[in-house]
Amino acid sequence: MGDFEEDPDSPVAKWGDKEWEEFGLQSIKWRLSQFMHGEQSALLCTAKIFETVPWIDANYYAATQLVDEARHVEVFAKYLDEKLDGGYPVNPHLGLLLDDIINDSRWDMTYLGMQIMVEGLALAAFGFMHDVTTEPLLKKLLRNVMSDEARHVAFGVLSLQEVCDGMGAAEIRERQEFAFEAALRMRDHFLQQEVWEHMGVDTRKMVETLLNAPEESKVFQWMLFSKVVPNCRKLGLLDAGDGWLRDRFTEIGVIEFEHFEDTCAEFLEYDLEDGSYGETA
Ligand SMILES: [Fe+2]
Ligand SMILES: [Fe+2]
Repeated sequence: MGDFEEDPDSPVAKWGDKEWEEFGLQSIKWRLSQFMHGEQSALLCTAKIFETVPWIDANYYAATQLVDEARHVEVFAKYLDEKLDGGYPVNPHLGLLLDDIINDSRWDMTYLGMQIMVEGLALAAFGFMHDVTTEPLLKKLLRNVMSDEARHVAFGVLSLQEVCDGMGAAEIRERQEFAFEAALRMRDHFLQQEVWEHMGVDTRKMVETLLNAPEESKVFQWMLFSKVVPNCRKLGLLDAGDGWLRDRFTEIGVIEFEHFEDTCAEFLEYDLEDGSYGETA
């Protein structure tokens, strides 16, 4: 956030330590609230997948995932309630995306939207918060949730890979567009308008400042795509057809993540017993 402090035209130019401290607290509250809303949708999507997925192994898996998601909703809701005195409503960009994912009648769209896009983004966001927080309970609960999410994303990629392999050009394009639309909404929701509003800042001006910020200051925003892009690549969605999704990810500046490890390759690192994730963090 340093850039905005130094810019005399920025809406936060006059902020002192007190305001930045309050902003930090509200920001954590907002992020954890969005995590909780995402988890609630994951629970609904998994219930839908359980009912509609056409093969038995995926059906058994969805049953175990349902239990995980219920636990995740509970832990985030409890943390917000007991440690942070309540949370924020769902962000409108995220809300629209979650509604689209759950309401699509095709089970594989729900799978793509939830297991690959939303959970892939969540895995990166949980990891970022896990690495920077010094609050032991939050660190531990994030680490536990991450071990489940890595499994969910990896299973999602493996299952969808077969389905995508059998699709024609028109069906693939529809899925590429769905994935890109989801990526844009996820990017926009991270502008956290509600927090700026709470702080009494001119939200419109702040969003403009954030959107025009130099590329270096958007590192956090782009890191969130470090799981989504390699998983889309693994599914074959980046280059299918005429490489439509590769072009879009190039335009928004996230294509550089394509050769990061996909979640099928790295999910054991998140295992609670033997995984190496966070050992040095
Ligand atoms: Fe979850
Ligand atoms: Fe999940």
